Amino acid sequence: MTVDTHAPAAHYDRVTAAWGLLLGEELHYGLFRSGDEDLATATAQLTARMIEAAGFEPGQRVLDVGCGTGAPAARLAREFGVEVLGITTSAVGVAAATERARNEGLATATFEVRDGTDNGLPPDSFDRVWVMESSHLMPDRPGLLRECARVLRPGGRLVLCDIIRRRPIPFQELRERRREFAVLRSAFGAARMDALEEYRAYAEAAGLGDVRCDDITQETLATFDRWQDNVDRHRDEVEAILGRPSVDDFEESLTILRSLWLEGTLGYGVLSASSPGE
Ligand SMILES: C[S@@+](CC[C@H](N)C(=O)[O-])C[C@H]1O[C@@H](n2cnc3c(N)ncnc32)[C@H](O)[C@@H]1O
Repeated sequence: MTVDTHAPAAHYDRVTAAWGLLLGEELHYGLFRSGDEDLATATAQLTARMIEAAGFEPGQRVLDVGCGTGAPAARLAREFGVEVLGITTSAVGVAAATERARNEGLATATFEVRDGTDNGLPPDSFDRVWVMESSHLMPDRPGLLRECARVLRPGGRLVLCDIIRRRPIPFQELRERRREFAVLRSAFGAARMDALEEYRAYAEAAGLGDVRCDDITQETLATFDRWQDNVDRHRDEVEAILGRPSVDDFEESLTILRSLWLEGTLGYGVLSASSPGE
């Protein structure tokens, strides 16, 4: 049997340890307000932006879809007294997140291997569904939104942030730039970016309402400089884990992504939506 190393589960099993060094504890982009923040501050600010949209209350049940190594889930459980179930297709991620919760003495953050597009959880069982930078890895985007809506209780809220496509990319351009996209795939795994308005349509088709979308592309741009700093700082350690070609691809992908951001092709968005009722 051959394993597609770019498929999300295999990709995340392979890169989790190295990405702790390159991306930090929270495996997502940073939101920069002044532009001078360090990466940990900026990633925490993006989490804070999602928290603001979610509006947590103590005792709520939260589903974290694509939980990485559990840093955002642990923060939610610690700071807001909510009970979080984090799910991911990466067994390595579940093990790291479970260890994090145990080390922090957090009994209210638990983690399981499950697929966000077919989660197998009971309907109407969560007050909040949190999807932080994982949706671009799930090809069945409408299915993901349907699953999120299915498990949300009436009156519950979905919050999602991710990389977005900000303009159509014609087939001819995709062909001409296929090397760039291949480097991104090698560094970040198989992914597809949708426009914020497509996310809005999937959410509405899934029966969610009060959909709010925010484009925060400019505030995320400095992320690439901080990741480059981490490549420079940790190159030897990361090469020992991933091998030199992978680190070279990661570094080249930063130049490619920076251009895609600056030319208005890709960027970053936040969406929130409510389940009707109550
Ligand atoms: C960029 S990381 C984000 C991790 C975490 N949300 C954070 O912000 O720190 C993407 C996560 O999505 C997970 N993932 C990818 N495809 C998935 C799927 N179909 N179902 C659930 N999780 C998935 C990956 O394993 C990884 O944990």
